[in-house]
Amino acid sequence: MRLIDGNAIAQQVLAEVKARVALLSPVIPHVAFVRVGDDPASVSYVTKKQKTAAEVGMQASLQLFPETVTKEELFHHLDALNADASVHGILIQAPLPKHLPETEVFNRVSPEKDVDGFGTQSIGRLVQELPGAFAACTPAGVIELLRRSGVETAGKHAVVVGRSLIVGKPAAALLLAKGCDCTVTIAHSRTRDLASIVRQADLVIAAIGKPRFITVDMIKPGAVVIDVGINRVPDATKKTGYRIVGDVDFDAVAPLCEAITPVPGGVGPMTVAMLMKNTLDACVRQRG
Ligand code: GUN
Repeated sequence: MRLIDGNAIAQQVLAEVKARVALLSPVIPHVAFVRVGDDPASVSYVTKKQKTAAEVGMQASLQLFPETVTKEELFHHLDALNADASVHGILIQAPLPKHLPETEVFNRVSPEKDVDGFGTQSIGRLVQELPGAFAACTPAGVIELLRRSGVETAGKHAVVVGRSLIVGKPAAALLLAKGCDCTVTIAHSRTRDLASIVRQADLVIAAIGKPRFITVDMIKPGAVVIDVGINRVPDATKKTGYRIVGDVDFDAVAPLCEAITPVPGGVGPMTVAMLMKNTLDACVRQRG
């Protein structure tokens, strides 16, 4: 079993981004964050993204809105960010409160600033395999982890567990595309006999958002397992009262795998690194 070190690989990506950012001086890539409400996980993710942006020499700004913000107020702010030439990337932290139509909000971001890759044009370009499409950061991070840790994907059967806009759907599109060349199955919460399908996988992408959902009986020996889950479970021994576990029952599954990502320290740091890369690319394109 080989442990895929997401922290180390994310540091490589960030070092490359930082070197390219330095070459752009005096232009500074700028990512604008939008957060609605005070969901603790969202607060922590956005803080981490802001810190990382500073570390690679980028500008990050943050606009906070209360849970009660209307769609019109949010659109007004997004329109201003779209029109602001000093802003190269825009990220609206998900999830949004229930009264806001998430896809409509994501679609309000100009395609050239859609560094999260959630808009119609970004997804369409991804599926069309057009160069320069912004791929959603978490699935892009998964692919980068596989590449940089030397996992062969061509012709392999990848089973993506989860069908979200943020991970499952774009991950499936990327794995199917030229370069990865996987045979792709998407399983989800309504899939019948999910265990027997996951058991056929050479490559498992676990993105269903349920702690330790993928158990050892679902894994074919020698599979590569990428755990996208970040779940908070109660833990009285921790100061915070919780700890983070993935979607995979790591202790039982790991010994069976060819390679596996840990949680934390697997996909998580890659998401942030790919956001920085997307913002840099957006800046370079907008500046010609
Ligand atoms: N919520 C969970 N993951 C993500 C992400 O990659 N981007 C945004 N905007 N929200 C998220």
